[in-house]
Amino acid sequence: MARTPKKQPTLLTKRLRLRPFRGSDLAAMHALYGDADNLRYWSVEASPNLANTRKSLRWHLAYRPRHYVMWAIEERAAREGDGRGVIGMINYHRRDLREKRVDVGWLMLPQHQGKGYAAEAGRALLRYLVDELGIHKVEALIAPDNKPSAALARRLGFRLEGGPIRDRWFVAGRWLSVNIYGLLAGEER
Ligand SMILES: CC(C)(COP(=O)(O)OP(=O)(O)OC[C@H]1O[C@@H](n2cnc3c(N)ncnc32)[C@H](O)[C@@H]1OP(=O)(O)O)[C@@H](O)C(=O)NCCC(=O)NCCS
Repeated sequence: MARTPKKQPTLLTKRLRLRPFRGSDLAAMHALYGDADNLRYWSVEASPNLANTRKSLRWHLAYRPRHYVMWAIEERAAREGDGRGVIGMINYHRRDLREKRVDVGWLMLPQHQGKGYAAEAGRALLRYLVDELGIHKVEALIAPDNKPSAALARRLGFRLEGGPIRDRWFVAGRWLSVNIYGLLAGEER
């Protein structure tokens, strides 16, 4: 029987470390969440300023495994203080305990896209969700124009299951429709 760990675990891959965010990650978090262009297909508006990101970071520092957990992605080769630090984030959210289902989200700094890092982090997260949390179904909501995210989902083993699901997100005063991708335990690639 799968058990939810009491503490958020760190997940290691060949090149990456997925670890909990810390209070000292404010600048890194703002680099991720303050970039409106990189977040043009995101379900929430980019953070307008550091104060806003600080609030969000504070919220994210708590471990809420029944609902939402976010990991900071770092290169394992990077040493503390060498300026590389956090290069992305990956999360699960909207966990449904009875139906053993979660949604996932992913975000990499632009200079760390196109290296296969998001796929590597995604595989580690899927392994954790299926093996440790006993998740049966993983879903990802993706804007139809977000080709890199759809390609990543397919690379990981997700299938396009439906869409456009109309007016699913409300971002910057506009309703947006999204596609839904799904992966059943055992379909990970
Ligand atoms: C979605 C997102 C995380 C995808 O990142 P990504 O870097 O394209 O995804 P991957 O890790 O799968 O990398 C794949 C690319 O790396 C290349 N690559 C380079 N070295 C590689 C390696 N060692 N292993 C695997 N792939 C490698 C692949 O060829 C592929 O290139 P291509 O895109 O030209 O085909 C990224 O576009 C992003 O952060 N977007 C902004 C936020 C966002 O929209 N998130 C999703 C919301 S639904």
